[in-house]
Amino acid sequence: MHLACSECAAAATADSMFCAACGGLLAFTLDAAHFDGAALRRTFSERRLSDDDLDRSGVWRFRELLPPIAREHVVTLRENVVPVYAAYRGAAYADAERVSYLHLGANPTASFKDAGMTVAISHARERGNRVAVCASTGNTAASMAAYCARAELAALVLVPAVGISAGKVAQTLDYGATVAAIDGDFDRALELVRALDPARVAIVNSVNPYRIEGQKCAAFALLEARAWQAPDWIVLPGGNLGNTSAFGKGLREAYALGLIDRLPRLAVVQASGAAPFARVFHEGGDLRPVHAVTAATAIKIGAPASWRKALVEVRATGGTVLDASDDAIADARAVIGRDGIGCEPASAASLAGLQALRVAGTIGRCDDVVLVLTGHVLKDGAYAAAYHTSAARFANAIRPTPTDADLRALVDEVTAVHV
Ligand code: F0G
Repeated sequence: MHLACSECAAAATADSMFCAACGGLLAFTLDAAHFDGAALRRTFSERRLSDDDLDRSGVWRFRELLPPIAREHVVTLRENVVPVYAAYRGAAYADAERVSYLHLGANPTASFKDAGMTVAISHARERGNRVAVCASTGNTAASMAAYCARAELAALVLVPAVGISAGKVAQTLDYGATVAAIDGDFDRALELVRALDPARVAIVNSVNPYRIEGQKCAAFALLEARAWQAPDWIVLPGGNLGNTSAFGKGLREAYALGLIDRLPRLAVVQASGAAPFARVFHEGGDLRPVHAVTAATAIKIGAPASWRKALVEVRATGGTVLDASDDAIADARAVIGRDGIGCEPASAASLAGLQALRVAGTIGRCDDVVLVLTGHVLKDGAYAAAYHTSAARFANAIRPTPTDADLRALVDEVTAVHV
């Protein structure tokens, strides 16, 4: 594994955060020729039967493919052990036949961030950092705070003072972090964090290449759960675009290692009010930041840091980028709920995007599609409550307190609706 600039290819040392030559983001490169794919598959699968913490983590189980970190520094919560579910109602909603959910909300802090955070915080501990810092719309904050608590590092998070989920802030405080609410949006918070000295603090936003290495393991876990049969499409929400670049990297490596025999396509879905990546994908040129506006607060990001890396990855898979309106996201989220699987609004951009791509004919009815659910429904309970109390669109809407007789009638009514 070697670390170099993802833009100008200049070599970098393991301790730097940005390229010394051009300021670009750094990335690890894996030399696939060093490995035997079949042997790797056997090792990964055997580890699932072990009781060792590292073997049972859905990140460290793939440790041959990660930058080396000494075992005594690893901080793990057995992250990225995540289910893949058939998406019955989600498939019908999008007029598709083979759809499943990869539920990354089943992680220890209930979002996909844990897979990357275990590597970033382990690295911070190994290099002797005493404090970790991030900018966040809430999920990175909660994840970083939990891993810092386990690692006995101080945690400082910068979040927008308004417009993020109160539950995520409470979760972050529970884990003992210091929260600084800034007068500005996520993009401003990230600017402030990037100006800090990386020699003094561990910056663990997805500009940190160790984060990306951990997050790419979500792709490995997905492929392994499917017996290394690649789907046709993987559809995921895009905000700061670290996850898109991580998924793309994981898929490319799995293909180069011979773990899979073809590359799935990536479809990235942004909220319409925060879609600068969708625009640059279709129009070319440099990304033009926007002032982000969306109720899917996790992806309310106007100047995504990893857009260049993500663009390379989406193009490498022959994929696409689109945006979905807040209304489409809200309805898609409720449909995912009806599958018995809860997710937060940003995650539901995946199903809203699939529906649009089916209408456009980009994705075929029989294509094998995986929707990536990035966060758990309880991450944003206020959003779900507001949806149900204002819309009453579904048969399970809240009713006034019934009398005994009403209740019997209600049982009949509910039964009839569900037969
Ligand atoms: N889904 C959820 C639930 C998220 O929290 C995020 C990002 C994304 C999707 C988008 O991922 O940024 O890698 O493209 N949340 C960050 C945070 C920004 O601070 O928690 P991305």
